[in-house]
Amino acid sequence: MRIFVTGGAGFIGSALVRHLIENTEHEVLNFDKLTYAGTLSTVERVAKTFETGIEKTVRWYLDNQDWWRPLVAAKAAERRGVA
Ligand SMILES: NC(=O)c1ccc[n+]([C@@H]2O[C@H](COP(=O)([O-])OP(=O)(O)OC[C@H]3O[C@@H](n4cnc5c(N)ncnc54)[C@H](O)[C@@H]3O)[C@@H](O)[C@H]2O)c1
Repeated sequence: MRIFVTGGAGFIGSALVRHLIENTEHEVLNFDKLTYAGTLSTVERVAKTFETGIEKTVRWYLDNQDWWRPLVAAKAAERRGVA
C-alpha cells in the first residue's frame, strides 16, 4: 500500500514514518510544511529525498527506452493522423 503522511517530520508523524518504513512493506510519502516543529533529521535514517525519487524515475526511463519510445511514437503518429 502507498501511504501519504502529513506532518511526518513532527513528533508523532516522524515516529509513524519510521515505523512504517522499517517494519512494513508499505511505500510512504511524507509531506510536511517544515514549521518550527518539523525537522527532517527525525526521518533522515529512513528517508529518500524528493530529488532522489526524481533521479530514480529519470534513470528508470533512460534504462527502459525500448518500453516507452514505441508508445510515444504511436501516440505522436496518432496525433498527426498517421496511425
Ligand atoms: N504529541 C501529543 O501528545 C499529541 C496529543 C494529542 C494530539 N496531538 C495532535 O497530533 C498532531 C501531531 O502532533 P505532534 O506532537 O507530532 O506535533 P508536531 O508539532 O511535533 O508536528 C506537527 C508537524 O506538522 C507539520 N505541519 C504543520 N502544518 C502543516 C501543513 N499545513 N502541512 C504539512 N505539514 C504541516 C509541522 O511542520 C510538524 O512537523 C497535532 O495535530 C497535535 O495537536 C498530539
